[in-house]
Amino acid sequence: MGKDVIIACDFASDKEVFEFLDLFTEEKPYVKIGMELFYAAGPEIVREIKKRGHKIFLDLKLHDIPNTVKKSMRVLSKLDVDMCNLHASGTIAMMKAAIEGLTREDGTRPLLIAVTQLTSTSEERMKKDLLIDAPMDETVLHYAHNAKLAGLDGVVCSPLEAGKVHERCGSEFYTVTPGVRFADGDIGDQVRVMTPAQAKEIGSDYIVVGRPITAAEDPVAAYRRCVKEFCD
Ligand code: C5P
Repeated sequence: MGKDVIIACDFASDKEVFEFLDLFTEEKPYVKIGMELFYAAGPEIVREIKKRGHKIFLDLKLHDIPNTVKKSMRVLSKLDVDMCNLHASGTIAMMKAAIEGLTREDGTRPLLIAVTQLTSTSEERMKKDLLIDAPMDETVLHYAHNAKLAGLDGVVCSPLEAGKVHERCGSEFYTVTPGVRFADGDIGDQVRVMTPAQAKEIGSDYIVVGRPITAAEDPVAAYRRCVKEFCD
């Protein structure tokens, strides 16, 4: 199983991200590249960061008709990322097509992880806007189960849901969890948070940590603290 700290590199330009990564002289952290940086800097930023020796989670959350997702995943597989993702709400057919597109000729592929319900969606909005009457945790577990049926490797979820996802989908099914904060740190705009140590205890496989590291006075020390709490 994985067990790693992924740094959410939510920067607006390649210059900022390289300045940040240059701080790490001894280790090569796993890096998450999201839509903001990818749309600003393009696929070249992925190749550059990969060339520097980092593992990459490309967080583009694909959601479209199966054929389009399959072809897009084929393009992403050539970027040689280590993990990428899509929305489970695109259906099992879309997720299966994604796997097909992502799998290279030699049979290898990056890990593929599903977003269940975004943590920004409340149960009330899910009912009113999306007409989903089931409770949030049931919806999340159902989407996770669909992702497993489609052959995906895991889901992005709140650390609070990681235990239940493992119960439903098995301990080999990865849980990738954002919403991580140090016990003595700011929580910012995150609502349901956990410390790295708690995330470890509840069974998260990867934690995604942004501002507690990127906005820290000493980002390298903050990263090391995360690794010590979560991985050791
Ligand atoms: O700065 P912070 O630690 O809050 O960053 C968390 C990262 O995880 C951000 O890149 C955010 O977009 C992402 N994320 C999240 N909640 C989700 C899915 C992704 O916070 N449900």
